[in-house]
Amino acid sequence: MPPAENRTAPRLPSPSSPDPGSPRGGTDGSADARAPLDGSPELLRAAFRRHPAGVAVITARGSRLAGFTATSLTSVSAEPPLVSFGVGTASGSWPVIAEAEHVGVHLLGEHQRELAGLFARSGADRFAPPTRWREGPEGVPLLESVPVWLVCRVVARVPAGDHRVVVAEVVAGDPAGPGRPLVHHDGCYNALRD
Ligand SMILES: Cc1cc2nc3c(=O)[nH]c(=O)nc-3n(C[C@H](O)[C@H](O)[C@H](O)COP(=O)(O)O)c2cc1C
Repeated sequence: MPPAENRTAPRLPSPSSPDPGSPRGGTDGSADARAPLDGSPELLRAAFRRHPAGVAVITARGSRLAGFTATSLTSVSAEPPLVSFGVGTASGSWPVIAEAEHVGVHLLGEHQRELAGLFARSGADRFAPPTRWREGPEGVPLLESVPVWLVCRVVARVPAGDHRVVVAEVVAGDPAGPGRPLVHHDGCYNALRD
């Protein structure tokens, strides 16, 4: 990574020259004059469609294997090393995540779009071939060929609406696997352009 001053600057619209391609944008400041929408699930979804996020898969082993695609993964704390992710309580994975002492966290690469789709698909046998996985530390199922995997010890499950925010401490991992990040934006899986 070159120093910040040598990087190609992203082309961002300036306040004096708004992006004509932006939805509902204006050239006369009218964008700021739009009436705000009321808070709703639709507003939240519309907002986050425009928020690019790295794609992760969370796995766990209980009475069965569980795993799901997640974009809610966040780095929370360095000391101790903590991450968090949200999991829907109506999801098939929740009963296993609710009981798990450890979870696997995988940061997917741009070569793993199919895997991301599979781990989001209801009814799919997510751990059957062609999915390649092995048993990792603490018995956690670990997906093969990911750029990064972590095994984390669950320290809290915080109620948050129809989800739980799971906070977990990183206990093992490999940050040097193959590939560049897979990014989810506007309903699509993308590779980074630069
Ligand atoms: C791009 C993307 C991101 C997702 N992020 C999350 C997430 O952060 N938390 C979550 O609980 N479900 C998330 N989901 C949904 C799950 O991957 C999965 O589709 C859902 O749990 C339904 O699975 P089930 O049929 O096993 O219940 C996401 C789905 C997609 C496609």
